[in-house]
Amino acid sequence: MNKLRIAVLASGRGSNLQSIIDSIEKGALNAQIACVASDVKNANALERAREHSIEALFLDPRGKAKEEYYSQIADALEKRRVELVVMAGFMRIAPASFTSKFAGRIINIHPSLLPSFPGLHPQKQALEAGVKESGCTVHFVTEQVDGGPAILQARVPVLEGDSEETLTERILEQEHKILPKAIELIAEGRVKIEGGKAIVDYAVFQDKWL
Ligand code: GRF
Repeated sequence: MNKLRIAVLASGRGSNLQSIIDSIEKGALNAQIACVASDVKNANALERAREHSIEALFLDPRGKAKEEYYSQIADALEKRRVELVVMAGFMRIAPASFTSKFAGRIINIHPSLLPSFPGLHPQKQALEAGVKESGCTVHFVTEQVDGGPAILQARVPVLEGDSEETLTERILEQEHKILPKAIELIAEGRVKIEGGKAIVDYAVFQDKWL
C-alpha cells in the first residue's frame, strides 16, 4: 500500500510530531513525513525532524501578510506532493484561502473536547469552568477556528487538585495516541466528510480511566 504523504506544521516542542514519527517507525502508521515546517526558526519540532532525517523547513513569517505567508506554505507543501497537512501545535490561524485549498486534507489536534473550549489555553478554560472531564480532539481544519468536523476524541478526567500543568500533561498523553491513530484512519481511507461531519469507523474511543 502506498504511504500517505504528510506534512507536519508545528511551532514549538513537537511532542505530537514525535508521536507520529514513533508510530511510523514502529509500523503502526502507514505514512511518510514529506517535511516538517515551522514558523519558528529554533522550534524543537525542527530539531526532532532533523534527528530523524526528515526535511525541516523554517518558513519565516516576518514581514509577510497572512495571505502571502500561507501561500508560501501552500507552495512548499504542493511542491512536496503532500496529501495530508497535520497541524500539531502550529500557533497561527490559517486564512480561508489556505483551508479551502486543502479542504478535507488538513487536520489539527486540540487539547479539549471540542466544541468545548476552543482557542487558547483550553486546559485552563476547563479548570475554570469546573468540568469533570476534558480531553482532546483531532479535527479537520476549516475556516472556523477549532470548529471543523471532529475525527477522534479521547476523554480525560479532571481530578481534584489538578493544576493547568497536571491536566495538560494527562491530556497530552492522549493526544499522542489519537493523532497518529487519526492519521492512520485517514491513510486507510476510513474517514469521509458528509454533511459537515466526519464519518469514521468509530468517532470516540474512550481510554480506560477511573
Ligand atoms: C498540544 O497540546 C496541541 O494539542 C496544541 O499545542 C500543543 C503542542 O504540543 N495544539 P507539541 O508541540 O506537540 O508538544
